[in-house]
Amino acid sequence: MKKIAVIGFGVVGGGVVSLTDENAAMIREASGDDVYVKYILDLRDFPDSPYADRVIHDVNIIINDPEIDLVVETMGGVNPALAFSSAALKAGKHVVTSNKELVAKHGEELMRLADENGVAYLYEASVGGGIPLIRSIRTSLASDTVTAVRGILNGTTNYILTRMRDGGISFEEALAEAQQLGYAEKDPSADIHGFDAQRKIMILTAVATGVIVNEADVYTETMSKLTTADIDAAKRLGGAVRLIGSFVREGDGVSVSVCPRIVDGKNPLAHVDDVYNAVSAVTSLTGDVMYYGRGAGRYPTAGAVISDVTAALSGAYKTESNRTWKKAPAGFVRPFAESKNRMYIRVSDASVQEVMDAARLLFGDVTEVPGTPAGVAEFVTPILAEEAAAKAIAALPGTVESVLRLL
Ligand code: HSE
Repeated sequence: MKKIAVIGFGVVGGGVVSLTDENAAMIREASGDDVYVKYILDLRDFPDSPYADRVIHDVNIIINDPEIDLVVETMGGVNPALAFSSAALKAGKHVVTSNKELVAKHGEELMRLADENGVAYLYEASVGGGIPLIRSIRTSLASDTVTAVRGILNGTTNYILTRMRDGGISFEEALAEAQQLGYAEKDPSADIHGFDAQRKIMILTAVATGVIVNEADVYTETMSKLTTADIDAAKRLGGAVRLIGSFVREGDGVSVSVCPRIVDGKNPLAHVDDVYNAVSAVTSLTGDVMYYGRGAGRYPTAGAVISDVTAALSGAYKTESNRTWKKAPAGFVRPFAESKNRMYIRVSDASVQEVMDAARLLFGDVTEVPGTPAGVAEFVTPILAEEAAAKAIAALPGTVESVLRLL
């Protein structure tokens, strides 16, 4: 029998513990042995839980117990998860995590530590919740090159965008709804300002390239400034606004960003609604590959954690590619100012004729948006480098109300 410990008895940790009982036979088959949760570490007590007698408050009991083969870390945040994970790896225990912030910021050192100690540090649940995404890239696509990933990586913001479109409601109203439904945290900053998606695209970039980029190098734009006018314009363009995390290989580097984009209606990502996540990858052998599913929630995420538990205990992880990451060398991430996009631009406080004349001079062959409301000018630019587009935008007459990149 393999004995494991779970640190963090919240939604996901609780799901992991109950799955070890409910799916015990399947887990035995995949791991090659019975799996028993010996300890649950949390600050709180859970007197009404059937697992109350396994709850402890001192991490050293886990670290110093030679019977523990593996630690599941579902605490979230960097501290104390980093110290607990490092101590467990140094003690020769596998660590499995759902903690995207820790993986994005410290995954490189934790994977190195795991390698040095002959154990695994696995993180399937950190991106896309229950979508079998990371292992698929690391195993099934191991002899293919992922050249780009574009994805809806945050369920909360996708719910907000879906409700703004379908309910015709404001960002603030949709956020309040998401909070009432328990999708968004009381402090929703990490979701709405793109930091959650930033961590996830950093992880996906590293899974595909073996190189982890710095968060400061990932251009990240909030979606909290989106208005119903933006959502309406996207609809009239035949698409939908989505918060897109993206990485594209460029030469021997990458371009990485998170920002709201108007996704063309022909792109399946435009039709991913509610709290669902989706990742569209481009590979050199297969072309387009898509992953879709629940990116959060107790059982989808706990199931992903368990898949790592079985990969670690069975030793299957040893054949996965990019088991350790390298830190990005200088210049690996291309400056966002050089990246090229088509842009949707809306201007008020000037005559439509004047704006469109200026737009043609400044941007070249612009396309007018169908059904533009009276009093504003709306157009889509040709593909332009960010830097050049910013200069042209600054030279437009009137008030620039909105600039959104297209996908
Ligand atoms: N806050 C995240 C989301 C949870 O909304 O997608 C899953 O990582």
